Parts: sequence; structure tokens; C-alpha cells
Amino acid sequence: MQYRRVGKSGLQLSALSFGAWVTFGRQVGRAQAREMLALAHDRGVNFFDNAETYNNGVAEQVMGDVLADLRFPRDSYCVSSKVFFGAVDKPLPTQRGLSRKHVMEACQQALQRLRVDYLDLYFCHRPDPETPVEETVAAMDTLIRQGKVLYWGTSEWPAEAIHEAHRVARENHFYAPVVEQPQYNLLHRERVEQEYAPLYEAYGMGTTIWSPLGSGLLSGKYNDGVPADSRLAQPGYEWLRESVLGEGDERLRKVRALQPIADELGGSLAQLAIAWCLLNPHVSTVMLGASRSEQLAHNLGALELLPRLDAPVAQRIRQAIGGA
Ligand SMILES: NC(=O)c1ccc[n+]([C@@H]2O[C@H](COP(=O)([O-])OP(=O)(O)OC[C@H]3O[C@@H](n4cnc5c(N)ncnc54)[C@H](OP(=O)(O)O)[C@@H]3O)[C@@H](O)[C@H]2O)c1
Repeated sequence: MQYRRVGKSGLQLSALSFGAWVTFGRQVGRAQAREMLALAHDRGVNFFDNAETYNNGVAEQVMGDVLADLRFPRDSYCVSSKVFFGAVDKPLPTQRGLSRKHVMEACQQALQRLRVDYLDLYFCHRPDPETPVEETVAAMDTLIRQGKVLYWGTSEWPAEAIHEAHRVARENHFYAPVVEQPQYNLLHRERVEQEYAPLYEAYGMGTTIWSPLGSGLLSGKYNDGVPADSRLAQPGYEWLRESVLGEGDERLRKVRALQPIADELGGSLAQLAIAWCLLNPHVSTVMLGASRSEQLAHNLGALELLPRLDAPVAQRIRQAIGGA
């Protein structure tokens, strides 16, 4: 495993990490989650990502139970949660958003579900237009001073809102966000590569990037339709299916164009797509998702492919996806 500093912070995360969205508490029960977390930890993964909203808190319960059962030394891994969407269907106004009330209560609940004394990373899952940013930054600062959170970050905030959070932190001597959690993959690049570019320089922020496979699209599994046991066939995720496959054949065409490059390098398309994310020095960790252990083991093999992604290969990849 390789380890990367999260921006200019002192925290070092494994280049590949593992998240619970869709899977834990839904496709993946405790026994399988145990197998996957043990496999990941054994292979050097030191960061497990979660959120209050993942399966309405059940993903955190499953992860917490398994982490307790596995008894990894607490200083050998990092665990995160995220606040914003709430942990129940149809949350009340006090059960969602980034008000001081919800931020403080959601953190407490995440600690209980994850069965840990502190969160290594805590993310504001989206910006909240109904809460002054001063209130949210102050609440995160409080959590850090209470020792309940070690580092805080944003997820999918516009760059402008992140600048604002830093201004508030600077003026009030509050802890500032050190990390952003954006989507980043071969088919979704603009925010990480363009919009956030000034943030890395100005604040030394790192990124924990999500959906490196575009929910599986970049493994090639959707080239000939939607397999019944796949994420995009999950009931309740029709919106995701529409967002991943809804743009006609253009995205599938790009996925197919990448396949010969993976073949030539001697890896799979999934491994190529994951390794490509790591070419970006502003990516602190690529968060993997997996519905079974074999996928996770396979995807961790992306690190072996990484040295083969030299400049000419990177150029061919850019041509295949039609980007600069
Ligand atoms: N901050 C945010 O807003 C946000 C949003 C989304 C995710 N995240 C985090 O990022 C993590 C990773 O995102 P993601 O789960 O969307 O990652 P992803 O790698 O884009 O998708 C993972 C899914 O693709 C399929 N898959 C994985 N490896 C495969 C392989 N080798 N061959 C075929 N299919 C494969 C599996 O689904 P099936 O087998 O079911 O098809 C797996 O669950 C999440 O778990 C979560 O922690 C954060």
C-alpha cells in the first residue's frame, strides 16, 4: 500500500480506501462486511468512509459492529462520517442540514453507531443554504475542540463556499476544513481538476474522492445492459441508474474505447480507472466501493498497474475519453 498526506495536513491515508455507500446494511451484511474490512486492513487500507444517511444509519451500525469485533488497534485506521441528509426517511428540520443542533447531534449518533470515541474525519455532506456558514464552521470547531472529531471537511461544496468557510475560520480562529470529498473519475473531472484548483494552492486541501468507477460503469459491467445483481438494478436507485446511464451511448462509447488500453497494460478496465485517479497528485485517497470481497481484492490490485500509467499511456487515455 502507498500512503498519501491529506493535502498539507499531517494525516496520511492509504492511497486506496473503502466506503460503505449502497452496500453496507443492504447488499452486504455483517459477515461479508467483516470479510471485506479484514481484507482491506490486511492489505494496508487505513480509511473507511461512512455517512449518517447511508441506509439510514445502518451502514454505520454494520461498520461499527464489525470494527469492534475485529479489534483493529484504533490507531491503525481512520473512520469518517458525514452530516447533512439525516439518518431517517423524511427527516424533520432538526434532523438534517448543517445547523449547530444537527451537526452536534449527528456526530454523537455517528460515534454511537460506529462505536468509536472520535471520528478521524467528519464531512459536511453538502452545503446548506439554510444555515449561515459561520454557524457550521463554529460547530465543526467545537467538535474538534471537544475531541470528537480530528479533521473536518466538505463534500461537493462549490469552491466559492469553501473559500467562505476558510475566511470564517481565519477571522475567528476556528479550525478550517482540510479536505474535500468530491466525485472524481475518468468521466467526471471538471470540479476536481478545474474548479478546485485554487483550493489546493491557497489552503493545502486534500481530497478523498468517490465513485472512481462511476458506480461500476468504468468496470465495463454495463456495456451490454444492467446485470440483475448490480448497483444500478437496486430498487430505490432508479435515480442513480438514470444519472449513470441516462446520457445515451456517449459514456458507454468512452468506456469501450478504454478497454484495449487496459488489455495492453495487462490489467482490467476497473483497475485502469482506479489507478488513473491516482495520477492526480491532489487525490489523497481513492475511495473504493464493493458489493463483494472479490471486487475489493481485485480493485486493490490497481496499485500494481499504476507504474505502467506513464505519460504516453495517460495521453492515450485522454484521447479515448475525448478530454484534454
Ligand atoms: N461524499 C459523497 O457524496 C459520496 C457519494 C458517493 C460515494 N461516496 C463514498 O465513496 C465510496 C466509493 O464510491 P462508489 O461506491 O460509488 O465507488 P465505485 O467504485 O464507483 O462503485 C462501486 C460499485 O461498483 C461495483 N464494482 C466495484 N468493483 C467492481 C469490479 N471490479 N467489477 C464490477 N463491478 C464492480 C460494485 O457494485 P455492484 O456489484 O453492486 O454493481 C460496487 O459497489 C462510497 O462507498 C462512499 O463511501 C461518497
